[in-house]
Amino acid sequence: MTASPAPHRSDRGQTSELPNARLQGRSGGPLRGRVRVPGDKSISHRALLFGALSAGRTTISGLLEGHDVIATADAMRAFGAVVERTGEGTWTVDGVGVGALLEPAAPLDFGNSGTGARLILGVVAGHGITARFDGDASLRKRPMGRVLTPLQAMGARIVDSSDGRLPLTLRGTRDPIPFEYRLPVPSAQVKSAVLLAGLNSPGTTTVIEPEPTRDHTERMLSHFGAHLDISTDPDGARRIALAGRPRLSGREVTVPGDPSSAAFPLVAALVVPGSSVTIENVMINPTRAGLITTLQEMGARIELANRRDHGGEPVADLIVAAGPLKAVEVPPERAPSMIDEYPVLAVAASFAEGTTVMRGLAELKVKESDRLAAVAAGLAANGVDVRIDGDDLIVAGGNGSAPGGGIVATHMDHRIAMAFLVMGLASQRPVAVDDGSMIATSFPDFVPLMSGLGAEIGTADGDEPTGSAT
Ligand code: S3P
Repeated sequence: MTASPAPHRSDRGQTSELPNARLQGRSGGPLRGRVRVPGDKSISHRALLFGALSAGRTTISGLLEGHDVIATADAMRAFGAVVERTGEGTWTVDGVGVGALLEPAAPLDFGNSGTGARLILGVVAGHGITARFDGDASLRKRPMGRVLTPLQAMGARIVDSSDGRLPLTLRGTRDPIPFEYRLPVPSAQVKSAVLLAGLNSPGTTTVIEPEPTRDHTERMLSHFGAHLDISTDPDGARRIALAGRPRLSGREVTVPGDPSSAAFPLVAALVVPGSSVTIENVMINPTRAGLITTLQEMGARIELANRRDHGGEPVADLIVAAGPLKAVEVPPERAPSMIDEYPVLAVAASFAEGTTVMRGLAELKVKESDRLAAVAAGLAANGVDVRIDGDDLIVAGGNGSAPGGGIVATHMDHRIAMAFLVMGLASQRPVAVDDGSMIATSFPDFVPLMSGLGAEIGTADGDEPTGSAT
């Protein structure tokens, strides 16, 4: 079984090997070895953004060179920043500064990336420029109203859009209104869009988040020289107040390993019998560590070794050993700290002893696909007893095994593809995904990295899977 490589651009002139179209994972021997996953996607987007919004040079190491982040780099160039790749994962950004962005000459194409599109809607909203936003078929379906509503209240105008989705044209304002916004959904993208618009406001912009979401925007704003006041309201909500028009200066950013990418080799090492894997340099910021907590509650053997600070974020090496998992109930308040990890957690749950209940997953419906439906359909196609009850996902575990044998519809969603390839590594029959090409958005070297651990992932041949999920 061999992976079918297809060239892709990691920056102008660069190519790397990528899986294309249908792939399958099948069981083989135990997974063994040490790996490093690519840089964190959220931090990579923000490093480029804040570099462009700063005066002087920002130097980034460990940047994720996936399609989503490259689209953000291209957008920063369109605003007048000079963005250059100087080596593997190392980039420089010569910024233009808050308030000084140029109007892009052409539409901005964000591909599959909701984070890029939503954060940059915030950037444009706070500048006196007009920009057109577009993306692929998946991104064109995703709701933008959640950012457009507060951005319009700050003074931005939608010039044209069908039903608040991409493609759309946004006209920003050079004087965003100082604004206080309580997040109606727990979304770091919405929080960040409002704060980015507020950067060019003459007053203070305040975001109140009843449930904490990933805090990379706040950490990085401070790192680049903005003044933030973060406190807790009497009702427990987090209040983030940003003083407008700071002078941001270029900085060094070291991007730690992405816990959302580490989740795949992590769960694979837990469910493939006899495995023992170390994943180095994984960010363990508490706003991102919900999966580790949950898996440990399930009895997973995960040791966090060599804890240290890496570029302002806590990181550790994860030492993982296969072993039995038991079902748990995952509380809804944990969802923001592991929102991207539910597909692979659901796969882990299908190998556990007992029935796992994951509560409060409404936000999963508006990701790169409707992940609640896609995960349930994928598990069902692979013989797992699974049910959606409102916003909850309920998965009956097979006590160390799962049938497999299905073909999973990925709906242009990288994490659905990777989660089900992991399932196939431990299920009785192989698991196929209809399209692995989207993996390049966040984890271009997923297949070679997993193969290096001994995983059998490649193009589907030999015994064809039988079930199918649509
Ligand atoms: C992200 C926030 C999350 C997450 C996405 C990255 C970010 O989205 O799902 O992959 O970098 O801010 P929401 O903020 O919509 O939950």
